[in-house]
Amino acid sequence: MRQTKTKTMSDPIPSRDSFGSKFGVIAAAAGSAVGLGNIWRFPYVAGENGGGAFLLTYIIFIALIGVSVMLAEFIIGRKAQRNALGSFKKLSPGTPWYLVGLMGIVAAFVILAFYSAVAGWTLEYTANSITNSFQGKSPDQIDNMFDTFIAHPWRPLMWQGLFLIATAWIVWAGVKRGIERYAKILMPLLFILIIALAIRSVTLDGAMKGITFLFKPDFSKLSGGSILEALGQAFFSLSIGMGALITYGSYINKKENLSSSAIQVTITDAIVAILAGVAIFPAVFALGGNPGSGPGLVFETLPKIFMAMPGGYFFAILFFVLLAVAALTSSISVLEVVVAYVSEELNIKRHKATVLSTIAIAIPGVIAVMSWGATSEWTLFGMHTFDFLDWISANVLLPLGGLLIVIYTGWMLKTKEVKEELSSQGKYKVILFPVFNFIIKFLAPVAIAIVFLNSIGVLNL
Ligand code: TRP
Repeated sequence: MRQTKTKTMSDPIPSRDSFGSKFGVIAAAAGSAVGLGNIWRFPYVAGENGGGAFLLTYIIFIALIGVSVMLAEFIIGRKAQRNALGSFKKLSPGTPWYLVGLMGIVAAFVILAFYSAVAGWTLEYTANSITNSFQGKSPDQIDNMFDTFIAHPWRPLMWQGLFLIATAWIVWAGVKRGIERYAKILMPLLFILIIALAIRSVTLDGAMKGITFLFKPDFSKLSGGSILEALGQAFFSLSIGMGALITYGSYINKKENLSSSAIQVTITDAIVAILAGVAIFPAVFALGGNPGSGPGLVFETLPKIFMAMPGGYFFAILFFVLLAVAALTSSISVLEVVVAYVSEELNIKRHKATVLSTIAIAIPGVIAVMSWGATSEWTLFGMHTFDFLDWISANVLLPLGGLLIVIYTGWMLKTKEVKEELSSQGKYKVILFPVFNFIIKFLAPVAIAIVFLNSIGVLNL
């Protein structure tokens, strides 16, 4: 483990864990980015928002705004060498900017509450695959299986608890030993499996309809709300807007090239989401299902693909296991935001901080996981707890966080400092700096603000 040995008065934190290698950085950040957001959330949100036009908008947001927000987070974190909240305090002492970090910590609670619920579903589906429970069921029965399961009084809760314990266990072990080791081996395997699924899906009879749905933009289906959904999905999928990558950035070695890491992570993330779409939509149209069926879409569709596949029994087990692992490498990055904050700012030992944070997160988590059962009557803005937390994190907290992060990087940090961090003190050429500078100063803030105001009806574009 590489540790910083220098200890000065202004630097009261004696040693910080860090990522060990270039591949480690990319693997960890990609591990954070690639998760349920790509494989569960992207297809269901794209399905609800009309498919093709949504995909196009999502890609534009990723390329135009996403990469730059990711870089801004890396810059802040690596420069400050602190957690999400402490970074703002250190770089701009005596200003209210630390509130951006605070909002990120709130977002971490919100995200982990419903994320751990869905991750729990993947564990149930792993168990179902092992016991061969999909075999011989009709499409309707497969759909019912999901509806019955999420309303079950304790099974979703049990799996969620197990998943949260696994997340806490890895975060407990620390950044490098925990996070890096797992991310490196298992994610390439998941990638191969999604490709296999996509191939099976597009070779089904009637697959073309799904391809058309996903790739042929129909802009009449795109409302102001859908545009915000696309922006929110871009942020959620890239793990940006709440300081997860500020926290990870603080573990990145001073010698690493931030820009190339951000670009590689972003491209990987987008490819996985698109592949997930290619695996899901042709199957939805060919095997029975409704693209707009909501958070259950993937859990209702995948079993149908597996049953239509030679070796489907084994593919199913392997896929759901790897999906759970992908969820794990993402959830640790969310929990790490809270744990890094609690241990560094509140001076609580890391192990204790991990236990306390996990218990605190389990509270909203339990409420969310029971949204189809015990808490189904609890609603906010017409949504039950799960839908509300899912919606508010991606469509409000992350874009707002991202907006403030780019404004901070563009206008509060000196251009010279930003350039220094981007070039790793002159080690790398930053050819596209004027582009990045323009995006964080003008384009991203204006675009995010417009999307926001438009979706709440203040603007009417
Ligand atoms: N990006 C992850 C996914 O796609 C989820 C995630 C991890 C996340 N860390 C985050 C989302 C931080 C927002 C912010 O599954």
